[in-house]
Amino acid sequence: MTITIIGTGFVGVVSAAVYASLGNRVIGLDIDQNKINKLKKGQVPFFEADLEELLIEQQKAKRLTFTTSYQEAISQSEIIVIAVGTPSAPDETADLRYVMKSAESLAPYLQKDAIVAIKSTVPPGTLEKLIKKIKKQSKVKFYGASLPEFLREGSAVYDTLHPDRIVIGAQDDFVFKKLDQLYEVFKAPIVHCSVASAQMAKYTANTYLATRITFINEIANLCQKNGADIEEVINAIGLDQRIGQHYWYPGLGYGGSCFPKDVKELAAYSRTVGEEGNLMNKINEINKQRIFDLLIDFEKKVNGFADKKIAVLGLSFKPNTDDMREAPSTKVIPYLISKGASIKSYDPMANYEEFTNEKHKEHQQVANVKQAIKGADAIFLLVEWPKIVNFPFPEFKEKRPQTIFDCRNQLDPDEIKKAGYQYVGIGRS
Ligand code: UDX
Repeated sequence: MTITIIGTGFVGVVSAAVYASLGNRVIGLDIDQNKINKLKKGQVPFFEADLEELLIEQQKAKRLTFTTSYQEAISQSEIIVIAVGTPSAPDETADLRYVMKSAESLAPYLQKDAIVAIKSTVPPGTLEKLIKKIKKQSKVKFYGASLPEFLREGSAVYDTLHPDRIVIGAQDDFVFKKLDQLYEVFKAPIVHCSVASAQMAKYTANTYLATRITFINEIANLCQKNGADIEEVINAIGLDQRIGQHYWYPGLGYGGSCFPKDVKELAAYSRTVGEEGNLMNKINEINKQRIFDLLIDFEKKVNGFADKKIAVLGLSFKPNTDDMREAPSTKVIPYLISKGASIKSYDPMANYEEFTNEKHKEHQQVANVKQAIKGADAIFLLVEWPKIVNFPFPEFKEKRPQTIFDCRNQLDPDEIKKAGYQYVGIGRS
């Protein structure tokens, strides 16, 4: 099949490389000439495991090309996948400007029976608007579909190649049959549903996971008050098969490019349909406030942060990515500095450009954990990078009083305390 992917952001580039690796002819289309030039040279503008190798391999095999020309790409494509950004608008709804712009640009070149599928996360009703827009400029018969994306950063290529399920939202058998052909190679369950259900499934999956994390974070707060240990609680309840132990390790709150945005958008969408005070609105507020409440608690454990030397370990929003969007470090570091601390931070991959020593002399990024913790009064473990959690902290205990804030509950509290550190975890004593 010949497929155009519009938008060469994270989801677009991963999808393009993976669809090509399945034997399809794929064209990556973007209006940003700079990005396209880089991609043509096999350069991915962000880090994602295995992606650059796959991209280069598929380009060499001549299955994957990149262009800025709508005419060139759309006129030869049977399937067009829209994967452009949907940033949050000022009222927190999804800004559909780029989705609609791509509809306008592709319409004149559509070939007969092409399928135009939206992969960007959009609220119900968007595909109908898109189809209307295309119909204003094109007389050919075409089909619409919704293809929500469930991949995670850091394992995006793997997730795309090994999906738990594929969700196809459409109205016509023609679309289901054709998209089944594209996806049957994965041997994963394929869910056929209405377009509105597919779009809701995406928001629901992310909001559910965000709710699950928020829930366990709130339970961790209670454990903190009564001497219970959240890890023991998770273990105990997780053996109930209806609950499970996966995907709710507590922390400073969820971050990244998807959860905060998707929960906010579903909350905003809820308001537009008269569901103002619902859970989605609440989750967003709780998660936003959480990190600051914890920082106030932490501050008391070390008698204030003023003049303290602090090591911050982990800058990205999670391991295996350089993505800093809604990363805890972007709140923790400015907060600590505002309280008069000086920071040495370390991350195996991410770079906190807005807050480096060139612009803020109180913050210095260093090359490894050892350098970061040298002379530190307190150590913030923010991200569970293997290089950080496997570091032998007890061997590096200094004479001064030192506190480890284990914001991911990754360390053994007894071992850390035995070495002489004050240990502060999340929801554990
Ligand atoms: C998420 C969804 O998992 C994915 O299906 C969707 O397509 C995009 O959004 P991603 O943002 O890459 O993927 O990261 P994920 O690993 O799910 O983590 C999201 C956030 O939740 C991170 O800040 C992470 O640290 C946090 N998290 C995750 C927790 O705090 N506790 C957990 O148990 C799991």
